[in-house]
Amino acid sequence: MSLLFFKRVLANPRRVGYIVPSSPFLIRQTSRFIDFSAARTVVELGPGEGCHSRRILRFLNRDSRLILIELDSHFAAHLTEQFADDPRVSVIHANAVHLSETLQIHDAAEPDYIVSGIPLTIMARALREELLAGIALAMGPSSRFITYQASLSISDHRHFDLVRKKHCLLNIPPLHVMELMKSPCPEAP
Ligand SMILES: C[S@@+](CC[C@H](N)C(=O)[O-])C[C@H]1O[C@@H](n2cnc3c(N)ncnc32)[C@H](O)[C@@H]1O
Repeated sequence: MSLLFFKRVLANPRRVGYIVPSSPFLIRQTSRFIDFSAARTVVELGPGEGCHSRRILRFLNRDSRLILIELDSHFAAHLTEQFADDPRVSVIHANAVHLSETLQIHDAAEPDYIVSGIPLTIMARALREELLAGIALAMGPSSRFITYQASLSISDHRHFDLVRKKHCLLNIPPLHVMELMKSPCPEAP
């Protein structure tokens, strides 16, 4: 684990969520949910120090884009420095609650994939609902939302339909990886 991750967990345990970054097993499992031959625009929410981003960039086409949206200014600065030489990457220091507006400004509406490491299932319900509504708003009919979470509760959320899921035991804590699509007719709250 990087010292940066440890410092940011101590500074903001609720926002960072887990005490260590994703394991190599979880990173591999998550990237298997992405069809890189079709991925033109990938958005990552809560990339932290960039462990999933590095894996995505390994397989991402040369002319595709990876947009990293990170709320923590220390992580955002670290990502900017780390990926400064890769023209596919844009680092945005922003809150993902404003996702739809942020993507429109960056000409990335309805991305192919939104990969999220934000610890949605362990945060306050009101904030989780705001984030999930924003993610659904930013998606088109063929966008896919891939997220790794401590519980499966998002899999039957009214905004989304579950495409597939996997359980990754080799991570601290064990997490569920889910692929979701935007529900064509979300149920009333
Ligand atoms: C569990 S860590 C995941 C870090 C990394 N993706 C990994 O797998 O190791 C959660 C990350 O989400 C970020 N985050 C939390 N809330 C956010 C928000 N509303 N918008 C953007 N990033 C957020 C945190 O700063 C942190 O980097």
